[in-house]
Amino acid sequence: MNEQLKADLADLDNLLSAVQRQGTETIQSLEIRPTTAPESNTQTEALNETGIGAAAALQLFNERFEKLMVASAGPRYLGFVTGGATPAAVMGDWLTAIYDQNTQAINGNGDVSARIELETINLLLELFNLPKSFFGGFVTGATMSNFTCLAVARQWVGRQKNIDIARDGLSGPLPVLSATPHSSAIKSLAMLGLGSNNLVKVQTLPGAREAMDINDLAQKLEALKGEPGIVISSGGTVNTVDFDDNKAIAQLKTRFPFWWHIDAAFGAFAACSPTYQHLLEGWEAADSITVDNHKWLNVPYDSAVFLVKEEHRLLQVEGFQNSNAPYLGDPLANFSYMNFVPENSRRQRALPAWFTLKAYGKEGYRSIVESSIQMAKLLGEKIETSTQFQLLAPVRLNTVCFTLKNATTPEAVHQFLNRLTSGGKVFMTPTVYQGRSGMRAAFVNWQTTAADVELIWEEMNSTLNLA
Ligand SMILES: Cc1ncc(COP(=O)(O)O)c(C=O)c1O
Repeated sequence: MNEQLKADLADLDNLLSAVQRQGTETIQSLEIRPTTAPESNTQTEALNETGIGAAAALQLFNERFEKLMVASAGPRYLGFVTGGATPAAVMGDWLTAIYDQNTQAINGNGDVSARIELETINLLLELFNLPKSFFGGFVTGATMSNFTCLAVARQWVGRQKNIDIARDGLSGPLPVLSATPHSSAIKSLAMLGLGSNNLVKVQTLPGAREAMDINDLAQKLEALKGEPGIVISSGGTVNTVDFDDNKAIAQLKTRFPFWWHIDAAFGAFAACSPTYQHLLEGWEAADSITVDNHKWLNVPYDSAVFLVKEEHRLLQVEGFQNSNAPYLGDPLANFSYMNFVPENSRRQRALPAWFTLKAYGKEGYRSIVESSIQMAKLLGEKIETSTQFQLLAPVRLNTVCFTLKNATTPEAVHQFLNRLTSGGKVFMTPTVYQGRSGMRAAFVNWQTTAADVELIWEEMNSTLNLA
């Protein structure tokens, strides 16, 4: 064994204790850590011939990079849709690295980790009150979940026309319909060879709405004259968290042949609250659903799940099997995740989710979700009564989409956002909504309190006064 490795193994207790101390201090001071990194001109270092050892590597990391780590896991990081990491989720994540299982098969390598993954999917189905008729697994994020679900959709459409697309390839465009898809769903169409240009845009409802006009969807499905297609609906749009009408789409599914995929990356968590679960009513009739865990479940990056109806298992295997590797066994006889997901070897991504779900339960997630929504509404109310800011859409759930009342040019909005975020106390991201420049504040972090909203509001107003 290399001398440095030998020394680190002997000193393991000190090394891991140092990381544990640093981890505790970091999480406990997230509130005061800046949400934006200072400018840095960090030079890239070359690889040394002789290693410096783990303790010196930690010291070097702390000198060069630690101060540049932003509080994206903290309570006032409202950009994109960024969750934090609960204490139990961090424990699970550390143990994932320590046990270092390759999560693939039942009865094989990574046996227990695949079992834990299947159990965790069940816990999530229970959290969302979804039926056990969904099969699921873990991928890196909602983008890969959309990709996985749409790959099965593609295979389903092919099979309706007696084509095995996984084996024989696509011979032409397939109809894909959606009103306000997330950019990652469009990216998935590109990655799957379905062609992002082939997306048929369904009209949205009038007013400040991003949900689809169901009559327009019905007309567009009618126009397909029985040709099978794919409908991608939104279980929470990223700008204004609008939900498509699941009950109406479920009705259309009885009249027209289409695969129904719901991108509920963060909106799925509305199901945790008796007050908001109606937004998802009817979603159990979908063929597939995307849920992101590194958003509202508050597990560390990277983690999401795909949920696909059990009845489509064979199609999923057709799309993802390792068909020309006899040493991996028969994909239908022996269950292995490697025949259901894009990756073959995978880390035990379910463990942080398992830890946090067990640690905080339904009650814990109801309180995180309802608190996030309350914080978004609080900021929304302040904006509504302000003379300086203006809501671009009502606050429906956990995201506030707004702009400056008197200066809505892209430049003015960008200047304001740059000044706001450079203060390091709050982070938001720009957007364009119905042709207007604005910004979004998305609340999903388990630690955000009303005191944070007060601080955010103060920062927003003092930033304006600086102009
Ligand atoms: C609705 C929706 N779908 C998909 C994604 C993509 O998620 P990820 O970045 O985890 O791939 C997001 C991210 O914000 C989202 O809000």
